[in-house]
Amino acid sequence: MASSDEARHLFHMTSKTTCMPSQVSNSDAQTKKENIRSLTMCGHVGFESLPDQLVDRSIQQGFCFNILCVGETGIGKSTLINTLFNTTFEENESSHFCPTVRLKAQTYELQESNVQLKLTIVNTVGFGDQINKEESCQSIVDYIDAQFEAYLQEELKIKRSLFSYHDTRIHVCLYFIAPTGHSLRTLDLLTMKSLDSKVNIIPLIAKADTISKIELQKFKIKLMSELVCSGVQIYQFPTDDDATAKINAAMNGHLPFAVVGSMDEVKVGNKMVKVRQYPWGIVQVENENHCDFVKLREMLICTNMEDLREQTHSRHYELYRRCKLEEMGFTDVGPESKPLRLFSLQETYEAKRHEFHGERLKKEEEMKQMFVQRVKEKEAILKEAERELQAKFEHLKRLHQDERVKLEEKRRVLEEEIITFSKRKATSEIFQNQSFVASGSTMKKEKDRKNSNFI
Ligand code: GTP
Ligand code: MG
Repeated sequence: MASSDEARHLFHMTSKTTCMPSQVSNSDAQTKKENIRSLTMCGHVGFESLPDQLVDRSIQQGFCFNILCVGETGIGKSTLINTLFNTTFEENESSHFCPTVRLKAQTYELQESNVQLKLTIVNTVGFGDQINKEESCQSIVDYIDAQFEAYLQEELKIKRSLFSYHDTRIHVCLYFIAPTGHSLRTLDLLTMKSLDSKVNIIPLIAKADTISKIELQKFKIKLMSELVCSGVQIYQFPTDDDATAKINAAMNGHLPFAVVGSMDEVKVGNKMVKVRQYPWGIVQVENENHCDFVKLREMLICTNMEDLREQTHSRHYELYRRCKLEEMGFTDVGPESKPLRLFSLQETYEAKRHEFHGERLKKEEEMKQMFVQRVKEKEAILKEAERELQAKFEHLKRLHQDERVKLEEKRRVLEEEIITFSKRKATSEIFQNQSFVASGSTMKKEKDRKNSNFI
């Protein structure tokens, strides 16, 4: 869906007539340098239709436009997008209790006359709802970078298909500021500051019907001075094209746009108009005395959509690409700031490969050394453990030996005791027998004496 660079360039040329003189003088200089002769043709040839051919081809391809809506929950993002494109995009309300900021992208196909538009709307779900808001803008930055990265990866492929590639890079960020009448919140300042080098920011004062006319003017001035003081670069409508310079310059003076959104319609006069109705009257969304909605629609869609796409590609993506390639080690200049000769990409690649190879070898050697060291350490530990075990074994062996000797001694003593005991037993048995025999004869003598007495 991405239009080719050639088409982009020619559109630029045809739509920006003021660029022509400088381009002519540039080509004059080039003509002299390259010795190219300018000729006058004698009649019609037909290449004057080249811009028309490109327009036709672009219409056939269709266009894509990606909008990022950043703003707190319920600030009116969906209502404004619906009002801008005069349709109802299906969208559910977000909860106020999201633990983190999440980016939700939805793509739609729209058609006006014969022009097809692939519109992607990215919403920041839960923005500003967390107690700790430190990470709030990081997810937005990461999302934008991820889209640039995807495009860069496609560009770096050997077999690219940029023609059919769905370009998801964010072309514009509509930043919704709460209509407090006070000043910008720190979160708004920080978020815009971290996004301004990555995306075209158009600041909007949301729900502008809730702030009085005088307060609104003061609020606008305050916001712009705060943005300038903080060095936040918001998108400026281009003033280098005669056809749009005047209107764009005037519109830059109206930023930030104070917008009101609504899809409700009532009849005013004989026309149906979009309004917000209140008990005391109505606010007409498309009435320039009531709000800046028409200014926003004119600037965003009718006049500067292509410039927003162009700026995204040539400024923001270019910056991302340059940083990324430099990070990867690619460079356009060689040592001593001399421009590299042909095949700089190849040379850089080779140099990187060598560097990587060297680093790999170094790492391998380091790992080998580490492995050997570890093995040595383990070996020492094992040896120590072995030594300890051996000592323990020797100690136990000694104990065992001592125990055995003691037991042997005890056994010997016991055996001696047994022998002594046996001897004593035998002696006592002999004694017993002798006394028994003696007592036996005494008793017989006594019995015989008793018997003789009796007789
Ligand atoms: P989430 O997607 O849930 O974060 O909300 P949102 O930012 O998309 O807001 P949404 O468009 O759903 O609007 C939220 C409420 O604000 C609705 O009740 C709208 O009617 C109201 N609202 C939207 N635009 C305006 C406006 O310009 N002025 C006023 N006063 N109210 C508005
Ligand atoms: Mg919404």
